[in-house]
Amino acid sequence: MEDMRNKMNGIMKDIMDTAKDSVERGKVNGIEPLNMLVIADSHYIGIADHVCPLIERKCTLALKLLQEVLDTVNNSGTTIDVIALMGDMVDNGNALGAKEDLLAIKETIKKTKVPVIVAPGNHDGPSEVLLEIFEDYEGVHNIKGYQIINFVDKYNEDESASRCWDKMEEHFSQTVQNKPIIVLQHNPIYPYIDRTYPYNIREWEKIAQYYSQKGVLLSISGHAHWGIPVNMKDGTGYLTCPALAESPHRYLIIKFDGYLYNVEEHKLLC
Ligand SMILES: [Fe+2]
Repeated sequence: MEDMRNKMNGIMKDIMDTAKDSVERGKVNGIEPLNMLVIADSHYIGIADHVCPLIERKCTLALKLLQEVLDTVNNSGTTIDVIALMGDMVDNGNALGAKEDLLAIKETIKKTKVPVIVAPGNHDGPSEVLLEIFEDYEGVHNIKGYQIINFVDKYNEDESASRCWDKMEEHFSQTVQNKPIIVLQHNPIYPYIDRTYPYNIREWEKIAQYYSQKGVLLSISGHAHWGIPVNMKDGTGYLTCPALAESPHRYLIIKFDGYLYNVEEHKLLC
């Protein structure tokens, strides 16, 4: 009887240790909490010589909407550590005046003095211009112990996006194993979006497999304007941020704590 009791106590201790372990694995030593503000698809048109035919896209309001997001977050008392811009910041980056519109967005956002990471979209025009304006680069950004990788994907004639595998290998080679990896790209990876328009990046299954092998914690995208909550696949979470340009003008605040995270969806009341 005594033996049985000791054995049961041993099993209970193992269960408790495992639970404690998984919590501690979530809260990794030396990694502080991180709050990320995610804004996607603002599709701004200010002075750009371009008209958007889609009435649901409130392109001309985008700068005002962005400012409202920043003010709302600021007034909420949440400290933001990094801002992720998920692409399609302007509606036509190739139009005359689009560069000035991007500069206006940059000026608005940079006032927060928070680091900004950009994942260029198919509407932004040349990605090198976008990155230069936001003083950003493609690759690993180490912020508060988190490894955040933004990808500049290539757009094809059919509007689909392609990942450069050499660049992917290069960026991941600069990561370490014991710190969370978060990836940002404009096009969704997972789940598969079964529509005629090519929402998912090409080779999305292969990319998802690669992310899983590399232990990516969370993959964040834009592009699918309706937004998609977190879907898990082989240990990696996949999230699509809704478009700011479309009602009800949503954005996300993701609160990371080591390998744990909580996604808050917010909307502007307008
Ligand atoms: Fe878009």
